[in-house]
Amino acid sequence: MSYKNFLFFMLVGLFVFWNGEGPSGLQATEVSSDENLLLAMHHGRPHGGRHERHQHHHGMGRGGQGICPQTRATAQAPDKIAQQKNPFESNADNYIKGESLYQWTAEPNPCKICHGPAGNGMGMMAQGLSPMPRNFTCSQTMKDISDGQMFWIIQNGSPGTGMPAYKFLSDDEIWKLIIYIRHFQK
Ligand code: HEC
Repeated sequence: MSYKNFLFFMLVGLFVFWNGEGPSGLQATEVSSDENLLLAMHHGRPHGGRHERHQHHHGMGRGGQGICPQTRATAQAPDKIAQQKNPFESNADNYIKGESLYQWTAEPNPCKICHGPAGNGMGMMAQGLSPMPRNFTCSQTMKDISDGQMFWIIQNGSPGTGMPAYKFLSDDEIWKLIIYIRHFQK
C-alpha cells in the first residue's frame, strides 16, 4: 500500500472511530456537529488509540451534555447570603448584560473558558480541572444551589478548585450573571 493510501485509510478509520462505531465506547451523540467532529479528531490525534485517555479527554470537549448529576463538595455560603434573592428581574436587558460577561468580558477570564459556551461545564480550560467546573445545564445539581450561594462563590471563588474569585465584578454584575446562568438549566 502506498503511503498516501495508508493515510487515507487511517483517516477513514478515524471517522468511523469518532462516529462511535469504533471500539472506543465513544457515544455518537458526543460528536454532534462537523465542528465538533473536527475538534475531536484534532484532540484525538496525539493519543493514538489509548482508550482511557480518549474517554477522559473527550469528557472535556466542548460538545455533549456534560456530567450530570455532578458530585459537589463546594463550601456552603453563610445563611444570610445563601438566602438572598436576586434583586434583578430576569428581563432581556439583564440577561444580555450577564451573557456578555459570561461569554466575553468578565476579567480576568470569561466564564465560558471553563464552564463552556453552552454552560455544560466543558469549556476549553476545563480539561484537567478536578473538581470539574459546574455544569449549569444539569438541573439535578443546580436545583439545590441558590442564587445567593452562586453569588458568594462567584465573588469569593471556591478555594482549592479552579473556580477563581471575581473581585473585579460589581454586585450588580454578579446578579446579572446569575440571571444568565439560570437560563442554561434544563
Ligand atoms: C478557570 C476555570 C473557571 C472559570 C474561568 C470560572 N469558573 Fe466557575 N467553577 C469552576 C470550577 C472548577 C467550579 C467547581 C468548584 C467546586 O466544585 O467547588 C466552578 C463552580 C462555579 C459555580 C458553582 C458554585 C456552587 O456553589 O456550586 C458557579 C455559580 C460558577 N462557577 C460561576 C462562574 C462564573 C459566573 C464565572 C465567570 C464570571 C466562572 N464561574 C468562571 C471553574 C471556573
